[in-house]
Amino acid sequence: MCGIVGYVGKEKALPRILSGLKFLEYRGYDSAGVAYILNEKVNITKRVGRIKELESSVDYNLDTYIGIGHTRWATHGVPSEINSHPHQVGKFTVVHNGIIENYLEIKEKLIKEGVNFISETDTEVIPALLDYNYKKEKDILKTIKKTLSSLEGSYALGIICSDDLDNIYAARCGSPLIIAKEDNGNFIASDVPAILSYTNKYILLEEGEIAKISKDNISVYDNELNKIIPKENIFEGTEDAAMLNGYEHYMLKEIHEEEKVYLDTLNYYVENNKFKNTMLEFKDYKHIHIVACGSAYYVGNIGKSLIEEYANIPVDVEVASEYRYKKNFYDKDTLVIIISQSGETADSLAALRKAKEDGIDTLAIVNVFGSSIAREALYTLYVKAGPEIAVATTKAFLAQTTLLTLLAVRLSKKEELLKEFVGLEKSINELLNKDYLEYAKYIYKHNDTFFIGRLVDYALCLEGSLKLKETSYINSVAFQAGELKHGTISLITDGTPVISICTDDLVRSKTISNIKEVKARNAYVIFITNEFIESDFYDKIIVIPKVSKLVSPIISVIPLQLISYEVAKLRGCDIDKPRNLAKSVTVE
Ligand code: M6R
Repeated sequence: MCGIVGYVGKEKALPRILSGLKFLEYRGYDSAGVAYILNEKVNITKRVGRIKELESSVDYNLDTYIGIGHTRWATHGVPSEINSHPHQVGKFTVVHNGIIENYLEIKEKLIKEGVNFISETDTEVIPALLDYNYKKEKDILKTIKKTLSSLEGSYALGIICSDDLDNIYAARCGSPLIIAKEDNGNFIASDVPAILSYTNKYILLEEGEIAKISKDNISVYDNELNKIIPKENIFEGTEDAAMLNGYEHYMLKEIHEEEKVYLDTLNYYVENNKFKNTMLEFKDYKHIHIVACGSAYYVGNIGKSLIEEYANIPVDVEVASEYRYKKNFYDKDTLVIIISQSGETADSLAALRKAKEDGIDTLAIVNVFGSSIAREALYTLYVKAGPEIAVATTKAFLAQTTLLTLLAVRLSKKEELLKEFVGLEKSINELLNKDYLEYAKYIYKHNDTFFIGRLVDYALCLEGSLKLKETSYINSVAFQAGELKHGTISLITDGTPVISICTDDLVRSKTISNIKEVKARNAYVIFITNEFIESDFYDKIIVIPKVSKLVSPIISVIPLQLISYEVAKLRGCDIDKPRNLAKSVTVE
């Protein structure tokens, strides 16, 4: 996943492109580059590292009014200036988000035609093929159309041709791209936060479409080059949604937005303890498959617990990268639910497409409006988390958990359960305002941490463990509390941190027995529970509000998120942009 920003207009282009790229840095941050037109020539500057490295190498005040920029998450070839975008071959300069799967085949063919390649990337074949085709076609739009028909894989593209220094060309297939309008010019961008400082009006480029963008005109064409009228969208949130607003990190800011995100999601679907017509009606499905990746997969595990318990429908939860290739047992009575914050995760999208091809009903639970998964699913329910910038998901996790809980109620047909949500925001607020530093101070010095819990608490352990790993680089594993003694307990030594979550009365005494087993091996136990117990089987206790079992997972995740944040901060980690990661994984 990478970030693209382009600008053409009456204002200076470089400040707009670079500020936009900074908002997209969450999409990849190995290297960055920009191409701009100055003195009738395309100039390129690229740097390894963060956008700030690029910023210090370009002059913001240059009289350039058109350019394309890129922030990279390396897939083909190491982060280096040569491999960074923009890539230029002949008359074409390109920035690309996605993967060209048949690039080797194209490269071989072009090498035979005498084309010279300098990078290890898949992207370089795009300007090379554009330049090759242009020599015959002599028309930029026709050249782009012809070139795209040879590409396999996914792409969002920003293109400049040195024969047309007034326009940026753009195209998309499988990777997101928006075109945004402001009074004095137009943008292309991978995501809305990049343009919010200037405008909230944008067009979502659809699959296969090509656009030609000048300072005062946007023309969009379908894949046969017929002109089409695109639909204009208005981003509802404010520019603040993409700003730090005084917080040290986006992760912390986004955790502190959770009370609002919870209420926004709840109030979008529920009023006076009744569902509004924004909540879909579903037929009586006999099976549900929930398919997702990473944290969204863990939300799926919470959803399984709730849907099975309250709606009495069996649920299988599957990792999308497996689901897309395995034999799945589903039929017309199965609903496949895809959960994705970004709505662009390649494996989740492929799983969705597979289910659709097999004629199965699909439901997308997505945060990003207009994303591929949201658009392609039969049904879509949006969570109302707003833009999430930190790579580690927090507020979207809480919003997805809220929506899955509402869905469990909807499927149970027991609308009266909605009263359990009333006032939950107070518990969220209480947990957000606790201090978690003392727990972090113990954990941050250790290289291994264990999370244990049973049933729905185990799903939360999975999320707590992932959050700690990705933000603080501490190795951690989550176990069903009863499983530890079947092998893993051998790893518990003097002082090993064990975080136990215990909110479910049904298994409370069982989980406590398991905690005693690790305590007997001198583990350091942090016990997160909703009922205070005076005892010596734990070292620290975090008491969370006792709310109904239905809504408890919505709040239980908060201490886990804040502990991870504090640990990562104590370890001096790059909290919002952990090493090797990108916000959404649009490649396999
Ligand atoms: O955008 P998605 O929800 O589809 O992303 C899924 C995972 O890549 C994502 O949850 C990832 O695990 C996060 N880094 C977790 O914080």
